[in-house]
Amino acid sequence: HDLSRLNTLGLPCRAERFVAPSSAAQLTEALALAGQERRAPLLLGGGSNVILPASLPGLVIQPAMTDWRLEEADRQVRVHVDAGVVWHDLVMSLARRGLWGIENLALIPGHCGAAPIQNIGAYGVELHEVLEAVRVISLEDGRETTMTPDECDFGYRDSIFKRELAGRVAITGLVLRLSRHAAPRLAYGDLAQRVSANPSPQEVAEAVSAVRREKLPDPARLGNAGSFFKNPVVSPERAEALRAAYPGMPQFPQAGGVKLAAGWLIDRCGLKGWRCGHFGVHDRQALVLVHHGGGSAEELLEVAAEVAERVREAFGVTLEREPRLAAEMGEMG
Ligand code: FAD
Ligand code: EPU
Repeated sequence: HDLSRLNTLGLPCRAERFVAPSSAAQLTEALALAGQERRAPLLLGGGSNVILPASLPGLVIQPAMTDWRLEEADRQVRVHVDAGVVWHDLVMSLARRGLWGIENLALIPGHCGAAPIQNIGAYGVELHEVLEAVRVISLEDGRETTMTPDECDFGYRDSIFKRELAGRVAITGLVLRLSRHAAPRLAYGDLAQRVSANPSPQEVAEAVSAVRREKLPDPARLGNAGSFFKNPVVSPERAEALRAAYPGMPQFPQAGGVKLAAGWLIDRCGLKGWRCGHFGVHDRQALVLVHHGGGSAEELLEVAAEVAERVREAFGVTLEREPRLAAEMGEMG
């Protein structure tokens, strides 16, 4: 099965077998089938945060259950959503209903099932802030459980699903908790200047989408996986020394250290718009690596290593990759 169009980097990839179960029963069936094999299945969502190899042995499962419903809960609203729902579609549907909570996460590509994997975040909001539960099925014994946010152990671009549970569960759905009460979060960048005095959630979602369209490449036109590296977190002492050497350096103090802007570091190395073979650094957002077509995963990783090395030489800061490799997704190789 050809997965070239099922990953936003547009890397060529063939999977030995592929299923897209559209009901819980079909998913259980696919997992039972996979359970008879030595190799764990690989779960795929919208393919917007993965680096796929040319060939994937075994079974790839893309959950395609797409129901969602609202449940009134006092002054809040619970949203039960299946893994296969497109995240941005959900954001816009809820924003149009006047519900607050995920409007700042508009236009993040991918499916709802993948959202907890790296605790998606943007414009000052992270998924964990509105998440009430994650429904999972164990790939080992097919048992279904509901996990609390505490059990998911969320961090910045991190969760238990990237660590202890990598390749061990399929996320089948989420429960979110939204509010009908106005709660705009406009502190990030120039968001406040882009909306009216009393914006609706839809207005905020549209403003966020507009900012994103200005700087992030559209994967339908130019292959990419969003930010290729996480923003590094350094100690306050290290941050202080860097600020002394580079007065304009953006820094964001937070619990556990100071977050630096990897895009700024790459940009300052003069790499914005740099092209190397079939890949390059986006010309409007240096944290995004782009695929101009015809390249491979190996080549992409070499280009990324070169970018990271240049940043390390210039600033002594190590960059960590964000998108997942098949081996990290649980594919046993
Ligand atoms: P995939 O890429 O298909 O999978 C990602 C990981 O999740 C893999 O390890 C996969 O095995 C696992 N997985 C997927 N579905 C399941 C499931 N049902 N059960 C178990 N495991 C599963 N991210 C942000 O946080 N903030 C941003 O602002 C942001 N902007 C982006 C902009 C662009 C242009 C692009 C291309 C990407 C951006 N991303 C951003 C990254 C990406 O959109 C998110 O990480 C998103 O949640 C990935 O969803 P997906 O369905 O495409 O997951
Ligand atoms: N910057 C530059 N040059 C660049 C890019 C950025 O100088 O080429 C500077 C900006 O001027 C700004 C700072 O770096 O001062 C931060 O830039 P930006 O607001 O664009 O955000 P980011 O830190 O590069 C992060 C997330 C994005 C998310 C945005 C908005 C990570 C790894 N990335 O990017 O998430 O959309 O903030 O919240 O945390 C993703 O994960 O794929 C992703 C796109």
